[in-house]
Amino acid sequence: MKITYLSHSCILIETGEHRLLVDPFLTGNPLATVDAASVDCDYIAITHGHDDHVGDAGDIARRTGATIIANYEIATYFGSQGLKAHGMYHGGKWQFPFGTAKMVLAHHGSGYSGGNEGPLRYMGSPAGFVFTIEGKNIYHAGDTCVFLEMELIGRMHPLEAAFLPIGDNFTMGIDEATEAVKLLKPRKVVPIHYNTWELIAVDPQAFAARAREAGAEPVVLAPGASLEL
Ligand code: NI
Ligand code: MN
Repeated sequence: MKITYLSHSCILIETGEHRLLVDPFLTGNPLATVDAASVDCDYIAITHGHDDHVGDAGDIARRTGATIIANYEIATYFGSQGLKAHGMYHGGKWQFPFGTAKMVLAHHGSGYSGGNEGPLRYMGSPAGFVFTIEGKNIYHAGDTCVFLEMELIGRMHPLEAAFLPIGDNFTMGIDEATEAVKLLKPRKVVPIHYNTWELIAVDPQAFAARAREAGAEPVVLAPGASLEL
């Protein structure tokens, strides 16, 4: 499979037959190299309700007919707009045509402003996902701090790759993400959720050096670059 980093928390996982987009924040994202109107996919996973993760999910789902995979509240919100949506919750997994998606813990918020900066809509609890595709486990942490249960995630689903936020302020910074690598023990680790704004500016190469010491192979992807698994 091919995994392309579309910047911030957005990745596109492509198999021969399927295209799974995660956290499609493209419009208004200063690092995005593709625009929302040109992305093709048949599934969209959303980790939580913050606007920099829900992003263009509704518009892309409306245009492509893609099914949204998210917590119950986000799935219900999009389902009520007539979009295809599959709700799940922490600890639950479901077999989709592309593979399995399991929703796992994340510690964060999940309110949604719908891009209006308005009163936040309650969008349930934040999550991460473990996707099992072509026999490989891929973890997308969403937005979170490090937490000890990451050890269990890695034990139950030996990880080929982990996509971890490193930008600090809203999520783990480099120190916590390094601890996450030690707990998760992924073969490869890809930093995400950094340098989109000044508030989350960090040096991904500094994380890469720490991740290598912690036993994982760091893969720093420029926006638009891909990784083959
Ligand atoms: Ni967030
Ligand atoms: Mn975020």
